[in-house]
Amino acid sequence: MNEQDLDQQRLKDDRQDELTWAVEGSRDNLDLTTLEPEALDRAMMRRCLALARQAWGQTAPNPLVGAVVLQNRKIVGEGFHPKAGMPHAEVYALKDAGERAKGASIYVSLEPCNHYGRTPPCSQGLVDAQVGRAIVGMVDPNPKVAGGGIKRLENAGIPVTVGVEEAACQLLNEPFVHRIRHGRPFGVLKYAMTLDGKIGTTSGNSAWITDTPARSHVHHLRAGCDAIIVGSNTVRRDNPHLTSHSDTAHNPLRVVMSRQLDLPKTTESGDPLHLWETTLAGTTVLTQTGANPELQAWLQDQGVTVIELNAVTPEAAMGYLGESGALSVLWECGGTLAAQAIAQGAVQKILAFIAPKIVGGTTAPIPVGDLGITTMTEALTLDRMGIQQIGTDWMITGYLPSI
Ligand SMILES: NC(=O)c1ccc[n+]([C@@H]2O[C@H](COP(=O)([O-])OP(=O)(O)OC[C@H]3O[C@@H](n4cnc5c(N)ncnc54)[C@H](OP(=O)(O)O)[C@@H]3O)[C@@H](O)[C@H]2O)c1
Repeated sequence: MNEQDLDQQRLKDDRQDELTWAVEGSRDNLDLTTLEPEALDRAMMRRCLALARQAWGQTAPNPLVGAVVLQNRKIVGEGFHPKAGMPHAEVYALKDAGERAKGASIYVSLEPCNHYGRTPPCSQGLVDAQVGRAIVGMVDPNPKVAGGGIKRLENAGIPVTVGVEEAACQLLNEPFVHRIRHGRPFGVLKYAMTLDGKIGTTSGNSAWITDTPARSHVHHLRAGCDAIIVGSNTVRRDNPHLTSHSDTAHNPLRVVMSRQLDLPKTTESGDPLHLWETTLAGTTVLTQTGANPELQAWLQDQGVTVIELNAVTPEAAMGYLGESGALSVLWECGGTLAAQAIAQGAVQKILAFIAPKIVGGTTAPIPVGDLGITTMTEALTLDRMGIQQIGTDWMITGYLPSI
């Protein structure tokens, strides 16, 4: 599906509320008999996505996948991939369906795998279960699969429909797709700013720019990502927790980038720095080789992992996190580091939360520091823009051109 078709489908997605009952309802009470075939397929695929989301933030380096088995318009099996090393969604759904999978339709949000990895190929599992039809949300971009799973099903005489709710399937797994295509985690720069473009006041205060609903939304985003990066000034000034605040049990790794490592052990008033408390969520500090050995030792005593790098750059940070299996990385830093992250191609998507507030101040911090751009023609123009109101605030999303 090309970008234009995907955009069309995104528009259609906004009009699908009438299917919510079929997506969220208890499977035993669902009467699916009245739905048109196309609406039924869409509803079941969206149900797959809802199932997939149950593992939000927990599957890296694997994708989020859900599966539904439908026999005579009754859901007889459901499953999702809970985490890497565990069986895939189709395995759970087929097990749940048992003998009822024979001749049934199976919906899967991502093409069934076709290779022996930590688990045997799901495509063969579907053939062995003798399903009657397969409906696939999107082709798996992994070169080990890339259409091979669909082909195996078709070769076995099973009709396959591909691309149902594709835009939503692609969106859910955009970090996975990015990592497969580029070998790096997907970077998202998130910031909250006032309507006059400030991420703090001239004194550096930034608590809170947005209201509770927007902040809850951020907690949910954090729960879905694998790592969050901040720079040393954000640690000093904001003393952030950077946790999902119980949105789910999952907390991403918190990463601090500091070349000099002249970071405090406590706040100015002597309170503990939240990032140095590692019982709830892990913290890793990326620093220059040889920087501040005394603080390095102290941090390690607190349970913080300290990684020395020859160059503490956004590119190196993404490389390090990619090697440890991260799919998605949320940049929650200030403008200094954000500019570097953009310049080095470590950010693919922008999430700007805009509050209906004005604070003014020529020296107040801004979301993106110097990019070396001097004329408007050089401006980075985002595409696939989206806007959503969250409480009294607005969330604007868009994708950066690849740099
Ligand atoms: N509203 C929001 O969404 C939001 C979010 C975050 C921060 N803020 C606000 O932003 C302000 C801080 O902004 P900031 O830009 O100074 O903070 P920042 O970007 O979080 O931190 C900057 C620091 O990162 C370190 N760093 C490590 N590697 C770097 C690299 N390769 N390139 C550049 N810097 C690197 C540098 O310190 P070393 O010398 O230690 O390397 C640098 O001084 C605060 O007032 C905070 O409240 C607001």
